[in-house]
Amino acid sequence: MNYLSDKKELTVLAIETSCDETACAVLKDGVVLSSVISTQIEIHRRFGGVVPEIASRNHTLSIGTVVEEAIIKSKLTFADIDAFAVTYGAGLLGALLVGVSYAKGLAYALNKPLVGVNHIRGHIAANYIAHPELKPPYISLIVSGGHTAVAVIKSYSDVELLGSTSDDAAGEAFDKVARVLGLPYPGGPEIEVLAKKGRAVIPLPIAKTSNPLDFSYSGLKTAVINYIHNTEQKGENYNKADVAASFQTAALSALVKNAVTAALDKKIDKIAVSGGVGANSELRNQIDSLGLKYNIKVFYPPLILCTDNAAMIGMEATLHIREGRPFSELSLDAKATLKI
Ligand code: KG4
Ligand code: ZN
Repeated sequence: MNYLSDKKELTVLAIETSCDETACAVLKDGVVLSSVISTQIEIHRRFGGVVPEIASRNHTLSIGTVVEEAIIKSKLTFADIDAFAVTYGAGLLGALLVGVSYAKGLAYALNKPLVGVNHIRGHIAANYIAHPELKPPYISLIVSGGHTAVAVIKSYSDVELLGSTSDDAAGEAFDKVARVLGLPYPGGPEIEVLAKKGRAVIPLPIAKTSNPLDFSYSGLKTAVINYIHNTEQKGENYNKADVAASFQTAALSALVKNAVTAALDKKIDKIAVSGGVGANSELRNQIDSLGLKYNIKVFYPPLILCTDNAAMIGMEATLHIREGRPFSELSLDAKATLKI
């Protein structure tokens, strides 16, 4: 138990700095009062991807104003906050340290508890904000720039991993393929737009993994790169939109197949999709249509809760506290890698 588990109107301030978004949100009983996201996308775009050292420095520059703005927008004061939550992993170590140190400082100064949150669990919790009716058990498909996994959510705290990526994450593959196509970072939304103008006519491999629910993207990425190089070497032109459409079709097919297979195998009639790639409309269309076919209900967070944000971290912390799980020590450390 913890002393806040039964508290009425539990108010949590959450901080997220695991990658290139500095974010802070205030939640009361799982309802988002404010959510502020300061993205560094424009800063990293000229490098074609996130530069960790630059990300850390910019988190340091923005965190104070982002937290301040979240408090002002929530119409509360620091004194109203019951607990401070922060993403402590997985992510870029230097970037995580900024949020962890700031949250520790607030918890210490205001003498309130600290809750360290696993970023992937945060992505899962994004669906509870938009769909309070979503209750375990259900199948979760987590697809972001750093993670690709399918899991059974047995209870709010009990997650059974069924499959994950053995190499690149799905979002990472979108970003890398976009880069070879000369598209700006982040590549996922760019590929989605371009793919709508093309046809999936280029044959690309869909990786076979020894665990059928695992994912692998490095072979697909290499096949796209080889296709582009071979075509260029022959002095021929290739259709960028067709490459985008062919890659997207292959990349999404494994996600859709594994999520639906997991639901059918486990006889669970709910799938919740989360993470940045979960914003992809083609992914949503495909899972929706298989969902209709097999009578599986599919849930997604709104687009703003798919990509990194602090509201999802606050939601996970709220569940953590409500379930009576222990608070974190002020010695909480950032972790670059963390299991689901
Ligand atoms: O969840 P997220 O914001 O950060 C991580 O935790 O990684 O996910 C970012 C990833 C990027 O790789 C980005 O290209 C991808 O999500 N993404 C998309 C779309 N929107 C974002 N991928 C495909 N289609 C999209 N519409
Ligand atoms: Zn994320």
